[in-house]
Amino acid sequence: MNFRSVLDSSPIFEKVKSTAAKLGVETYVVGGFVRDLILKRPSKDIDFVCVGSGIELAKSVASAIHAEKKIQVFKNFGTASIQYKSYDLEFVGARKESYQRDSRKPIVEDGTLADDQNRRDFTINALAISLNEETYGDLVDPFDGVKDLKRKTIRTPLDPDVTFSDDPLRMMRAVRFASQLKFDIEPDTFDSIIKNADRLQIISQERITDEFNKIISSDTPSYGFKLLYHANLLDKFFPEFQNLLGVDEKNGLKHKDNFYHTLQVLDNTAKYGGDLWLRWAAILHDIAKPATKRFHPKQGWTFHGHEDKGARMVPKIFKRFKLPMNEKMKYVQKLVLLHLRPIPLVRDNITDTAVRRLLFDAGDDIEDLMTLCRADVTSKNPNKVQKYLKNFDIVEQKMKEVEAKDHVRNFQPPIKGEEIMDTFELPPGREVGIIKNDIKEAILDGVIQNNYKEAHAYMLTLGEKLNLKSVK
Ligand code: CTP
Repeated sequence: MNFRSVLDSSPIFEKVKSTAAKLGVETYVVGGFVRDLILKRPSKDIDFVCVGSGIELAKSVASAIHAEKKIQVFKNFGTASIQYKSYDLEFVGARKESYQRDSRKPIVEDGTLADDQNRRDFTINALAISLNEETYGDLVDPFDGVKDLKRKTIRTPLDPDVTFSDDPLRMMRAVRFASQLKFDIEPDTFDSIIKNADRLQIISQERITDEFNKIISSDTPSYGFKLLYHANLLDKFFPEFQNLLGVDEKNGLKHKDNFYHTLQVLDNTAKYGGDLWLRWAAILHDIAKPATKRFHPKQGWTFHGHEDKGARMVPKIFKRFKLPMNEKMKYVQKLVLLHLRPIPLVRDNITDTAVRRLLFDAGDDIEDLMTLCRADVTSKNPNKVQKYLKNFDIVEQKMKEVEAKDHVRNFQPPIKGEEIMDTFELPPGREVGIIKNDIKEAILDGVIQNNYKEAHAYMLTLGEKLNLKSVK
């Protein structure tokens, strides 16, 4: 296979080629860019490997393309990167590398292209395209990577035990690529993951989370989760999720398997175009079901309060995963807490109050909450699914009507604390808070409308009840 015409389509390859020729170093495009080129997935990250110093080559390329200010050198790793237009160019010298058993600290020696390809993770990532004069554009594919791309297979170039012990994160990466590309993992490679799963322990949480988020972001994340589970990896970093697995039976009554239910909810959020955080909300929405599971002779299996307990588990899980402890975490926590609330709103006799309260509690996340609720409908009976989804259409219609009337979705108190203090000559304190809260409650309960006039009048009545003298 020759890729000369592809290389000709961007001037950067010719620049790297001529610079490498001047320095007299053999150079190749390697790794994910070549894989994605063959798979026709556009990629902006280009890795170059040279038989020599990657840093020296990067410096010369940077000056040839007038990007001296856009170069970053990582001396410790022997790599350098250049931001060039929309591309991220990475340069590395070919290496023979092996890792000590109990650390990720590599023993690195200079090597040939073949050495470098040997130490890569998968055959499909070990493909290289020559940038050298005689062989310009030729594909170097020592492990039949192209064949593996065609048969949709993830396989290690060396004995998988060696490849995975070099860097155990690759076990997560195998699942990640399988999930992203909809590939199988070749049986020997998969068996080796099962065998070496414990070695994930030496990998930093940040790197694990990075791969896990990529699995979650793939089109059908349940596939990646099932691979993680069958490979014995899942319980190594997410035991709470694995705990969802299984069905109990008592007096002939069973509950659903919350592991597979959650995976279906997750796939549904993916189908609805949910971003990473909505997907995390799907992953965690029932996470407290094992902890709240009870059997009542009359009711059967219940999970009372699982939304509340689940919401309280969210910060702990986020912290352990080194996910951001910011508004993203709060968003996931909110959706987990509220995920059951829209369900009863479908009843005919439902009051506006319940709708208003949910709009108030969900605020701007109400649409995402409704998406999660729809995704949570996983009955195998298509008639039931249709019925539940239709019910949510009705709830949404009610929400629209109430919101148009009452504007509580992003509730701003119509009376500010200062006005309460001025009106009754009160210092800041408990009483001001009580009055402010009572006004809000009256609006949410529909006792008064959400406007200044009614809120002001209501404030004066509250003052009277509290024996406060109005000075205004
Ligand atoms: N690589 C490896 N072992 C790792 C990480 C990376 O052998 N643990 C090699 C692979 O050859 C890979 C290349 O380094 O193709 C670049 O790694 P990375 O940028 O993480 O992955 P990509 O394959 O480029 O895929 P993506 O851009 O989707 O992350």
